[in-house]
Amino acid sequence: MLKMKSITKTFPGVKALDNVDFEVELGEIHALIGANGAGKSTLMKILAGAYGGYEGDIFIDDNKITMNNPIEAKHNGIVIVYQEVDTALVPHLTVAENIMMDYIVDGKNDVFMNWKYIRKQAKQELDALDLDINVNCLVSDLTLSEKQMVLIGRAVFHKAKYLILDEPTAPLSIEETEKLFEIVRKLKNDGMSVIFISHRLDEVFKICEKITVLKDGKYVGTFATKEMTIDKSVEKMLGRKLENSYPKIKVDINETLLEVKDFSGTGGVNNVNLNVRSGEIVGLAGLVGGGKTELCKLLFGEGNILQGEIKLKGKGFKPKTPADAVQMGLALVPEERRKEGILVNESVETNLTLPTLDKYCKRSFMQKGKIKKASVESIDKVGIKTPSEKQLIANLSGGNQQKVAIGKWFLSDAEVFIFDEPTKGVDVGSKAEIYELIGELVAQGKGIIYASCEFNEILGLTDRVYVMYNGTVVKELISEETTEEELLYYSAGGALNEKQN
Ligand SMILES: Nc1ncnc2c1ncn2[C@@H]1O[C@H](COP(=O)(O)OP(=O)(O)OP(=O)(O)O)[C@@H](O)[C@H]1O
Ligand SMILES: [Mg+2]
Repeated sequence: MLKMKSITKTFPGVKALDNVDFEVELGEIHALIGANGAGKSTLMKILAGAYGGYEGDIFIDDNKITMNNPIEAKHNGIVIVYQEVDTALVPHLTVAENIMMDYIVDGKNDVFMNWKYIRKQAKQELDALDLDINVNCLVSDLTLSEKQMVLIGRAVFHKAKYLILDEPTAPLSIEETEKLFEIVRKLKNDGMSVIFISHRLDEVFKICEKITVLKDGKYVGTFATKEMTIDKSVEKMLGRKLENSYPKIKVDINETLLEVKDFSGTGGVNNVNLNVRSGEIVGLAGLVGGGKTELCKLLFGEGNILQGEIKLKGKGFKPKTPADAVQMGLALVPEERRKEGILVNESVETNLTLPTLDKYCKRSFMQKGKIKKASVESIDKVGIKTPSEKQLIANLSGGNQQKVAIGKWFLSDAEVFIFDEPTKGVDVGSKAEIYELIGELVAQGKGIIYASCEFNEILGLTDRVYVMYNGTVVKELISEETTEEELLYYSAGGALNEKQN
């Protein structure tokens, strides 16, 4: 049994954890949930030895242990898989080398490395997990989910007893998530404990037997999943009931703003036709790999347009760069926030005001007061949890970084906003707030493209949906008249079967 008792952790200006208790038994799958910034990742980083300075005690089987670095954590059988899996792998080494990393750098091997043993052992770990990944493959050639599996394989090789997964499913497709859950259940049956962090509560209820809730750095309680419901856990996380997950006001839909005709380009985008009207939220539904992200990027001037044209308010244009697209009146909230949506080592203020900087400049002078005012306003509007607008983005929680990536565009004068999976990693309460902000945009007569692989979100939020499959739009539907099943059918290639039959 693992116990964390009265854990407190303070960062400059932030008390991330305040007297938190957390207990996990061997052989259980235990969820850790809470709103963005509640302290989930911080608590788990302490357990994984990533932070030295914390108050409180950690016990394994009633023996007090210290957790001052990752090596100590590993010795105690604790392994963490961070959401940014890339940071934990060496891309230009093989799968086998990555799984056996610690063995390789161990120092006990002296001059000679037994590569045969390394490959054999790594293959055994993957086989035991029922995973079909070639151990001689370079890690850089793997998909995200395969990379996760490699990290889990490494944890198993370490004989880890406690495996922490911090939002593992956010980037995964439905099948990949199923595969991950299969492995998690298997590990549990072998006696391992798995701590699972996720904002997708349906997943939590699917595989976890216990749930611990944190709120504002404090421990709310630990509950048996059997005795909880999704609504109850939302209430415990937010401290209030969530009345309406999809606050949607009716607005008039008017003239066409954006028209995309016979549009093809890099990334496999092939012959797409769509339009967006003023006041309208248009969904782009599709599975991971269906081409939504590629289309969004092309529209925003990233990649090469091979054929077709974009018209904004009747005026044709072909964006060559994102700057062209912004100039014409487009805005994009990209999917991979850490790589594309934000500057991690800059302040919240800089990030929020960068796309609209010319608004706060007079001749060549930046007006600091205006910049501050605008950023403080959007921090409030989007509900970003930060001690001040000067905080570095790198120090915000994952979900709050995402809110900055979204928030910066609410200051812009764009006509058409493209959101690519904007609520990934965002808690349920903040999701509703983001939907409300999108509602405000359409009320002002803007047009929205909203790409998502979460079909309940598409149904709750949008007016019309285009379903994408294999780089092209295969179906157009009225949101009110369709269902999740129908969206899934078309996004899995159903329309093609229809044509053939
Ligand atoms: N290195 C750091 N420096 C300063 N503040 C930090 C640091 N890491 C986390 N914080 C702050 O501690 C609080 C808890 O953050 P944490 O990342 O643990 O939240 P979380 O529950 O994982 O949220 P999310 O669901 O958004 O990932 C937040 O207010 C965050 O801004
Ligand atoms: Mg987190």
